[in-house]
Amino acid sequence: MLRDPPLIVGNWKMHKTISEARALIDALVGLVGDNFEQGRFTVLAPPFTGLSTVAQAITGQPYLLGAQNLHWEDRGAFTGEISGPMLQDLGCRYVLVGHSERRRYFGESDSIVQKKAAAALRNALRPILCIGETWEQRQSGQMEPVLSVQLTQGLLGVDKHQAENIVIAYEPVWAIGSGRAATADQAAEAHRYIRAQLLALWGEDAGMQVPILYGGSVTPDNIGELLTISDVDGALVGGACLDPVLFAKILRVAAAV
Ligand code: PGA
Repeated sequence: MLRDPPLIVGNWKMHKTISEARALIDALVGLVGDNFEQGRFTVLAPPFTGLSTVAQAITGQPYLLGAQNLHWEDRGAFTGEISGPMLQDLGCRYVLVGHSERRRYFGESDSIVQKKAAAALRNALRPILCIGETWEQRQSGQMEPVLSVQLTQGLLGVDKHQAENIVIAYEPVWAIGSGRAATADQAAEAHRYIRAQLLALWGEDAGMQVPILYGGSVTPDNIGELLTISDVDGALVGGACLDPVLFAKILRVAAAV
């Protein structure tokens, strides 16, 4: 099957004020140009406060807008929350769900993650479902069951006809922000397992349509090798996407694989 270019998602986390966001996009566009084919496969996910600014800054350019979180209801008395229709309205096309920082610091269970993924799909947003094991789980041989539960629970109720709108991100918790990315072998093993799970869930055609991104200490130095691994269809980049020089390098490598 003919595969799309790698999907690269920049997760800004809780970084960048509005003026800093503007400066980051300007610098990025200055480095890679505004008619950059890879841009069609590049998602910028600033914090909520930066979405509108980034949406404006990428107008007329191929980049895509993503959010880092959403509420599972479309509206209501949920003080401090942001809903799918609000993200849609801002021009978002993607939204992260189940990032390990949300699971860890904000108590997001698999059932909350599942409701958020459903809310995203209902609002024409592609959920990027993040799954990954901790170091302790890996050491005790629990990687596969952990990935399996997070994947199948997160996708509960999602019909295989919606597979084309789903993105999975494998993010080993121990690799996030640690400077210790998974080795090629570790990433290959996990991605192979996730693909097998998707095929078991949805069958060959639908299961192959889902891009599986790798995330965790991605840099310009390791992105090339990671993207050559079969079933690594892109990357979720945290720290390195905050530096336009590093992110531009990552995009250039991705465009060349
Ligand atoms: P990192 O973060 O690239 O800084 O490791 C990745 C992520 O948490 O999405």
